[in-house]
Order: sequence, then C-alpha cells, then structure tokens
Amino acid sequence: MPIIFHPSTNTFHLYNNTLSYIIKILPNRQIGNLYFGHKIHDQENFDHLFELANRGVRVCVDEIHNNFSLEHIKQEFPSPYKGDMRLGSIDLAQSNGSHIVEFYYDHHEIFFGKRPLEGLPSTYIESDQEATSLWITLKDPLLHITAILQYTLYEKRAVLTRSVKLCNEGKDTVVIEALSSLNLDLPDADYDMMTLTGAWARERSIKIHPLHEGIQSIYSLRGHSSANFNPFFALKRKETTENQGEAIGVSFVYSGNFLAQVDVDSFNTARINLQIHPATFSWPLHPNQTFQAPEAILVYSNQGINFMSQTFHDLFRQRLVRGPYRDKSRPILINNWEGTYMDFDENILLEMAKEAKNLGVELFVLDDGWFEGRNTDTTSLGDWWADRVKLPHGLSALAKKINDLGLEFGLWIEPEMISKRSHLYQNHPDWILCVPDRNASVGRNQYVLDFSNPDVVDYIARQLENILDHTAVRYIKWDMNRSMSEVYSSSHLPQEQGMIYHKYILGVYRLYERLIQKYPHILFESCASGGGRFDPGMLYYAPQTWTSDNTDAIERLKIQYGTSLVYPLSCMGSHVSAAPNHQLLRNTPLNTRANVAYFGTFGYELDPRVLLPSEKEEIRRQIDFMKKNRSLLQFGTFYRLLSPFENKEAAWMVVSNDRLEAIVGYYRPLQEVNERFRRLPLQGLDPNLLYAIEGKSYKAYGDELMHVGLITTDLSCQEQTDEGDYVSKLFILHAK
Ligand code: GLA
Repeated sequence: MPIIFHPSTNTFHLYNNTLSYIIKILPNRQIGNLYFGHKIHDQENFDHLFELANRGVRVCVDEIHNNFSLEHIKQEFPSPYKGDMRLGSIDLAQSNGSHIVEFYYDHHEIFFGKRPLEGLPSTYIESDQEATSLWITLKDPLLHITAILQYTLYEKRAVLTRSVKLCNEGKDTVVIEALSSLNLDLPDADYDMMTLTGAWARERSIKIHPLHEGIQSIYSLRGHSSANFNPFFALKRKETTENQGEAIGVSFVYSGNFLAQVDVDSFNTARINLQIHPATFSWPLHPNQTFQAPEAILVYSNQGINFMSQTFHDLFRQRLVRGPYRDKSRPILINNWEGTYMDFDENILLEMAKEAKNLGVELFVLDDGWFEGRNTDTTSLGDWWADRVKLPHGLSALAKKINDLGLEFGLWIEPEMISKRSHLYQNHPDWILCVPDRNASVGRNQYVLDFSNPDVVDYIARQLENILDHTAVRYIKWDMNRSMSEVYSSSHLPQEQGMIYHKYILGVYRLYERLIQKYPHILFESCASGGGRFDPGMLYYAPQTWTSDNTDAIERLKIQYGTSLVYPLSCMGSHVSAAPNHQLLRNTPLNTRANVAYFGTFGYELDPRVLLPSEKEEIRRQIDFMKKNRSLLQFGTFYRLLSPFENKEAAWMVVSNDRLEAIVGYYRPLQEVNERFRRLPLQGLDPNLLYAIEGKSYKAYGDELMHVGLITTDLSCQEQTDEGDYVSKLFILHAK
C-alpha cells in the first residue's frame, strides 16, 4: 500500500514512484510534516527529520517541553494564536469570544480509493487501485469539533490531493472565519514563485519572482477565480528549467474567491497555505453540521516545469473532466459572436451555417443576442426565451434547420446574470445580490443573480430545461460576464451573509450538475468574459473553457502558453478569427491564426459569408488538417519549447503516446534583418526512431531532433518564404 503507517514512531509515509510525503503525530499529538519531495526509501523511523526549536527566544506549548515551540515546527494543520506566529490553518470564532483551538490526533483511516467531496468538484478515480487515501481525524477536546485531514495519493501520478472537513460534534455554534484546504511547511524557501496573472484579454501571463521573507500571495475577491490571478502557483528551484530540476505545483479545485499564500519566516522556511478567501467568508457551523473545504492539488516534479504541467494535464484530462466528451476529440465549431455580434436574424444565421458546413465545420454556435429583446448588452438577461423578431420560428426550429444542413447546434447562455430591463427583474427585484437601501454597482450593465438562494437556481434551471427539452442543443457556452460586488442576499439572515460568496459558487456547481446529469450529450464550455473563470473547479463540469476574448494569434501565443502551465489543450477554447483582429486591429496571416488555434479545441469566430474564395479554400484545408490530427493535438503529450515571454519566437509541440507522430508549432512574430540560422531542440521523441518531416527532403532520428534540433530557417533550405511578420510554421513528424 503506498500509504504506510509506522505505529512505533507514529509516522505516515505516503509515497509512489515519484514522490514521498512524510508526516507524523507529534509528541503533543498535533500533526507535523517531516518531508515532501522526491521519493525516498521507506523506514520505520524518520524522527531524525523532526526539527524542534532553534535556539533563541520562543514561545513553547508548556513548561515541561520547553523546546517544543510550534513556531519552529513544520505542521499539517497549524492552529494559530498558540505559539505558532505564522499563518494558521483555521480560525474559529467561539461563543466566548476566543479564537484559540487545539486540534489533536484522534484516529486515522487508510483506504484504497478516493471519496468524492460532497457538493464540490474534485479529482476522482475509476478504480480503487488508482489511489490510496489517508484520513486523519483530529479533535479539539474543548469544542468537540473534529477536523478530518483528507489526503489522496495517486499511484501512477505525481499527485497528492488534500482537503479538510470540519464536523461540529459539540453543543455550541462556532463560526468558521478561515479554513485552509492545504498547509505545507517546506524546510527552506530557496524557490522562485511562478504565478499566472493578467486581466481581461491578457489572461495568464507567467510571472516569476524569488520568494522573500514575508507573505506573498495571489487571490480573488471577485466572486470568480478571475483573469487576474489563476488559482495556481508553482515553486521552482532557481536552476529549474522546463525540462530539469525540482518544481512543486499547487492548484485549487475551486471557482470562487481564493487566497493562496507562501509565508516565508525569518528561519527561511516556507509555509504554503491555500483556502477560500477568508475576507469574504464566515460560516456558522451549528451542532451536527459539517463543512467540506475545496480540494487542493499538489504536484511534484523532479523533471522541470514541463513535467509538472504534463502531470496536471493528464490528471485534469483523465480524472477531473467528466462525461462522454472527456476522451473525445472536440467538434470543430463556428461561433457567430465576432461575425455578427448581436446583429443577426434567422436568415443570416442560416446563411452563415450553410457556408460553414461547406468549409467542413461540424457545430454552429449561436452566441449572445438570441433571447427576447437582446439587441444590446443593456437588456434581457434572465429572460431565456427566443427573440421572435430575430428568430420568428423560435429556437428549436432554428436548431432543426441547422441540423438539416448537417451541423450540430450550440447555444450561449449567461444564467447567473440579470438585466434590470427584463421580465425576471420586474417579477423578482429581490433576486439580485445587493444591500437593501444601497446602490448596487453595475458591471457590463448587468447584475448578479442570488445563486445562494436555491429558488433562484431552480427557476433558472427550469427555464433552461424548457429550452433544452425542446431544442436539439449539443453544446453550451456558459458565460459569466461581470465580477461580483455588494454581495448580500435578501434570502439569508444577517448572520449568514458571510456564507454568500461560497453558497453562490455552490449554487453554480449545483446548476451545472443538474444540467450535465440531465443532458449528458451536451458539451459545456465555460467562459467569464473570456478566461475569467479558467479553473479546475469549472473543468469538473465543463470540459472546455473559452481561453480569452483576445483572439489575436500573436497575443494568443502568450495566453495559451501561460495557460498550458496547468491546463491541457483539450480544455483550451481556441478559434481563428477575422483579420484585422477585433481586439487589436492587427493583421496576421490566416495560416498563423490556425497554427495557433490548432493547439486547443479549434473553431472559427468570424462571418464565413464574407470570406474570399482563396480564404475558403485555405480554411477547408485547415479543417481537414484538424480533423485528421485533432486526437493527437488534444490528447498527445504537450511540450513547451520556446517561451514567448522570454524570446522573440515561440514554439511548442505535441507528441503522440506511441511517439510515432509529433506536431511542432513554431511562431516568429517579427521578421529580423540578416538573421541567424535557427535550430529548435525538440522534446519527447523516441531517440531511436527515424522521423520524416513533412515537406522536407531529409529525415532525422529522434536523438538528432532533440539534441541538434529541428531546422526552422527556410533560408538554410534555399527557400525564400521565410519573410514578413507574424510568420508561423507547423512541422509534422512521422516515424512510420
Ligand atoms: C463574453 C464572452 C464572449 C461573448 C460575449 C457575448 O465577453 O467572452 O465570447 O460570448 O460575452 O456577450
């Protein structure tokens, strides 16, 4: 069993072929951490790794053990305000005004498999042999509150998951003011912290900075995980590169407000702490109630950042995403948003669909603007029935006509939102989140529905079911176009207002679950003004996420490259849009737009009626290419080769699982004069196989391509096509 308990030393060793995680019941019966990192041999006794207090001034737990200072001890569930001066794992407000807690080991359970987290998204298993779990139950003897530390180690993945569940077995209500899903104390802080930061249309830029003394954090207080900070960070050693060295990846399976912190103390230890953001969270836990914290995921890599990413990719693709689309190549779609915005009618849509079908597109997605009165973004959210001016025969008739053309039909919705100009608002003005007697701030002219209220969720569910029961919908783009403000629910008591942000996201999860259970044939793509809710929580319900509203191919290099740090290509919504690009007015060649979009779910976001014959020809070829290669692109192993954040060029590649095929994407945004020859070392090939490179007269062994490199300069082959800006090339490799 990969989780071993040594009773003589009270030590737990969780290990697989990649990592070891060693924890221990401390002499005072709290849980301490002895080690996390590369796999090491098991031993009965690891007590030599237990470090007590350094010399110097310290606060100790009692008079007898005066070197037992929690401030210096690496712990799994540190209680604050009891001598540990760092960030704690839990803050419980008690009826006597105290926040002091003491959680001591009570018992533990080791079992094959992994239990789902009630009401929350989480990674899963398909057979009990895939993973082993350890649940350690701690108890506060005074409060009669138990905290169950929940660990799961996947046997064949470099992945450990961790969460916490609280149960109130006492007689008094306590208020959870903070609860960490993960606390990990590392013995040194000699790491660089990598984060994915950004904003609308420039999501998930890679930022790297050395850890320094004090707390460094990323967070969201927007009600959604946000484009600003993705709920992920990595700690990597200074010398770690894409393909070598140690890295620890931390990801949060949650879509609401979060806080991820690293606290570096004056002894150079680093405390990792991951939780629902406590600033907007306060949860009364009444007697006999339980509270489940979301899941944190730890990935350990000793082979660089790429291996960390691949471990996340495989885990998310295989054991987070669910449903029939999990293992299926994704349909090639056309979305009418940038083609028409809200200015369309049934005829226009059918003409677009007909053209798209001729190009080889498989799914037609009707974006925003289809429901009653929705001609601008100032109106109609909440009224989920067809606009009879634009669509005189209704939605199901439109879907049928699209189906008759040979295309599947997809639909955009934004179920969590409401416009004041809507029937829904007239009937239920109290269903928006706002503080009575105060102004509610608008965002994109809209307000947020109170999804903490089950009646609201049920009403929206019934409206959507009314459509889905009668319309042949195969795909849904679920949008969420504003951050939340004035979060106050009139359906809750004053003392329950600290629950609303979290209850809201639980309401979103519930609605998703209801719809995916009822309509398993529908492929969901989540969206929040582009990539404002690109997180693992969403992927549990929606296998795809719209990566960014920025569809410019050159900007997408950075956005998709950054996103690939954590998320697999099969989840990344990526479309070819028109030139000049609508966000930047930049003109990029059609082939470069496709060469970027292939590394994702792939589709088009333009008006096919206005394409030139030559463009149609090229798009037909692109779609043929994608149909042939999408299973390799979406389910192969992805390697980043050249970072657009650090180079003038960018490159990445996907290798098939049998290593017989690979596709390399190479991008050179700006032409240089009198340039050098370029060789691009590849990754992941079989060194002993001879690869043909489509369009090239030579073949090369995998070892040559990985160590000498692939020649990316056309000039060296006496071709003169390597000119101009925004140039890109695909290299298709076969070893068959
Ligand atoms: C958001 C999405 C876009 C589009 C519009 C429609 O901005 O990210 O793709 O669906 O909403 O209003």
